Amino acid sequence: MTSEPTESNDPRPVVLTCAQPSGTLTLGNYLGALRNWARLLDEAESYFGIVDLHTLTARTVPAELRRHTLSCLAQYIASGMDPARCSLFVQSHVIGHTELAWILGCLTPIGELQRMTQFKEKAQRLGFRAGGEDDELRFTHEGAPAQATVNSGLLYYPVLMAADILLYNADRVPVGEDQRQHLELTRELARRFNHRYSETFAVPEADIPAETAKIRSLQDPTRKMSKSDEDPQATLFLLDPPDRIRRKIGSAVTDSGAEILHREDKPGVSNLLEILAATTGERVAVWEDRLAGKGYAELKRTTTEAVVAVLDPVRKRYEELMADRGYLEEVLRTGAEAAQRRADRVLRKVYRKVGLYPRPRPS
Ligand code: TRP
Repeated sequence: MTSEPTESNDPRPVVLTCAQPSGTLTLGNYLGALRNWARLLDEAESYFGIVDLHTLTARTVPAELRRHTLSCLAQYIASGMDPARCSLFVQSHVIGHTELAWILGCLTPIGELQRMTQFKEKAQRLGFRAGGEDDELRFTHEGAPAQATVNSGLLYYPVLMAADILLYNADRVPVGEDQRQHLELTRELARRFNHRYSETFAVPEADIPAETAKIRSLQDPTRKMSKSDEDPQATLFLLDPPDRIRRKIGSAVTDSGAEILHREDKPGVSNLLEILAATTGERVAVWEDRLAGKGYAELKRTTTEAVVAVLDPVRKRYEELMADRGYLEEVLRTGAEAAQRRADRVLRKVYRKVGLYPRPRPS
């Protein structure tokens, strides 16, 4: 039945992941995701997409989106995504993502999309109220800020994401826990397509890390460290220079008492110990022992050193890369070419299976 192989000659599994080109990544992005992806590069035929089209579901400033796309690329390379060992590409450079999304969308009932947790949360944040029968969204404008709208791109977001994955016939998709439901939908769409049109897609496995460092806000350790925190002191960014790291960790909230212990009633100290463990690769208990009898100042000093040791080479490499735009554009060119080769094979097969009339050969 598989008359047209989608496989390349590479016998390794295909691993693909993507991220939106947002401003600057956090220490958590690096420790929880990037560093691990970079370690997988040799085990797989690896694709890494910068999904600029997804970004358009929120209001973006065009010049900023362009700038962030290149900066994101440099941050990924600096974090270890070696372009010699994976294909780094921009989603909008590869034909097929939106094309396949259309076809998959025609296999997706609207209700399935309206029930997606992330959609409901985003829509709610825009002032729309979820509720009513079957948990469907009610588009009551009640309480909505004057200009808030839930654009259809937001609803369609998971379908485009499924297309990002299935377009490469990916076997494994490293993502964070928050993307589990989107991966479930992707798997369901692959099965649905295969069932309706015959075996075409691999059903991709979500590769969700079992334990990632739970890095929390430096200013409110009961909350996750987030890049969108209003307090700039709360978050460590990938590109923070050493003196800024020192200042942020120096002003991190600690707890009453003086012992350096990872304990529920010591969220601030526990957070610093988590950061220390995640950046050094040594267990929290080891650091508790090592720092026993020392004060919070020492804990902060040690944590600062560990974070600087991890981030400083990344920032320096980033700066070199950003100074060499020609190189970055060359990476995007070869990345898009490799991605397009694979995408073409899959898309052609999909078009044929669904019965689209073969495109005339160029004369
Ligand atoms: N939705 C993902 C996120 O916010 C980004 C994404 C888009 C993605 N397409 C993807 C991740 C395909 C993995 C595979 O993190």
